[in-house]
Amino acid sequence: MSTPVILLLSGPNLNLLGARQPEIYGSATLEDHVARARTAASDHGYDLEHVQSNTEAVLVEAIHSARGRCAAIVINAAAFTHYAWALNDALAAFDGPVVELHLSNPMAREGWRHTSVVTPVATGVIAGFGGDGYELAVDAAVRLLSR
Ligand code: DQA
Repeated sequence: MSTPVILLLSGPNLNLLGARQPEIYGSATLEDHVARARTAASDHGYDLEHVQSNTEAVLVEAIHSARGRCAAIVINAAAFTHYAWALNDALAAFDGPVVELHLSNPMAREGWRHTSVVTPVATGVIAGFGGDGYELAVDAAVRLLSR
């Protein structure tokens, strides 16, 4: 049997992590976070696929391509979290667990970040733990899959 896959999705501006507002998002790069997530996944016997895009349609297509192929999705939709309803619809059509992930805690920030279009279709949310969240989110996905 082939190794099951967890899909990690990263939304807009996360490609700038490390340089972008380090006082909020820390000094690690997206590559660093993906490496931690990949190690956590492989420790549990999963492969990790990663897609980052600044374009909503690319993320929608990636969610479609996960249907029937990936075991779980971990998604940090970044600013798309707060208004991109096409992501909500696409995630609703995915069968496996969905873990919503944020480096910061959006609920403790500006009011416009308090709405999430991902939360209603997420199995659970990991937010506010910085880079540790990438490991925590993969661990959460694996636990959900082993229930
Ligand atoms: C973020 C929080 C969002 O509000 C913001 O737009 C981001 C990053 C986080 O990881 O903390 O780009 O998703």
